[in-house]
Amino acid sequence: MSRVVGAAVLGVSLLAWLSAVASAQASRTVQDGVFSDAQAARGQAVYGQQCATCHGAKLEGAQAPPLVADGFLGRWQDQPLSSLFNKIQNTMPADRQGTLTRQQSADLVAHILKTGGFRASAAELSPDDAALSRITWPTGLVAAAAAPTTGRVFPPLGNMAQLMRGIFFPNSNLIFTVQTRDPGAKPEPAAGGGQTGGFSFVEWGAGIYGGWELIDNAAIALADASPLMLTPGIRCENGRLAPVTDPDWIKFTEQMIAVARKTYQASQTRNQELVSEATGDLSDACAACHQAYRETRRGGRAPDPTDPSNKANRCMPR
Ligand code: HEC
Ligand code: HEC
Repeated sequence: MSRVVGAAVLGVSLLAWLSAVASAQASRTVQDGVFSDAQAARGQAVYGQQCATCHGAKLEGAQAPPLVADGFLGRWQDQPLSSLFNKIQNTMPADRQGTLTRQQSADLVAHILKTGGFRASAAELSPDDAALSRITWPTGLVAAAAAPTTGRVFPPLGNMAQLMRGIFFPNSNLIFTVQTRDPGAKPEPAAGGGQTGGFSFVEWGAGIYGGWELIDNAAIALADASPLMLTPGIRCENGRLAPVTDPDWIKFTEQMIAVARKTYQASQTRNQELVSEATGDLSDACAACHQAYRETRRGGRAPDPTDPSNKANRCMPR
């Protein structure tokens, strides 16, 4: 574990250094003519063959989301252009991931920008990661859309332990498995004939939504299910109401969401080492809340999560 944590720290300082280097260079936005018309035309040709069936001939969206307009821009405008490039390069076309060349992905980004109304120039968009990460989106491109709300609150069916066993335990363990298994590798046939490739405790499902998508979905499940820990009325197994208004409880939940989102970003790189490094932060985010609200130390004894007297202290407000 300490090796994993050390690697994560190194990754962070490298990132900080890279972003310092990046900001020292003149930054451009996608409005500054970052691609050429010829390049966008090449991208259009690839798009027609490999993307249009899912995303629509005019990028308007079909069975897959649109690649134009506010809903699309709102998802990417806060990230460098390299993120959009990497999404395409690493995960698209969804049915044939990893088959595009970097040049094709750059051409596709050019086509998306051109269709979005951004102007071309004589310069081509480089497929180089450092160059792409220096290009950003103009600020205030799209106002944050107010999501419609129903105002309804659904009382929880289960307690915290059940929520943990049902969502947090299986999904985080899927991600921890990346430490020793490459989701991109061809699955090994499992006993019983299923294809599980080591991600096996949901045997029936792993062969269907397998590979890296399994890790994407596990990270999404952790991020988007975390607000359930703030559901009014949710209790611990011992019957005590979870302290959903405690600032610390809220902080640990927010940290969980942030770490799960980072894990998703790592999974999107399709790089086993990066996800493996991210698992250190993930287990830290679980442990931080558990140390405060689950494994309470009483009388200086080391916490034992299975100790019944310890269970009685769970969900105690600080
Ligand atoms: C088999 C269907 C399919 C094909 C073919 C396909 N995609 Fe996708 N694409 C999807 C789905 C589904 C999503 C949404 C899930 C996700 O983000 O991974 C998506 C998401 C995206 C996104 C992110 C959209 C957003 O709003 O965040 C981009 C960009 C994208 N695709 C580009 C492409 C490009 C470029 C091609 C062609 C090289 C392509 N896709 C081919 C199914 C497809
Ligand atoms: C905001 C606080 C919080 C976060 C974050 C959190 N947990 Fe928990 N967890 C709890 C509490 C409280 C309990 C005790 C539940 C009970 O007794 O009902 C618990 C219990 C558990 C249990 C034991 C359930 C049992 O059988 O008694 C597991 C397993 C677990 N958590 C896994 C995780 C994992 C994995 C993560 C991170 C991905 C995580 N938890 C993140 C608060 C949290």
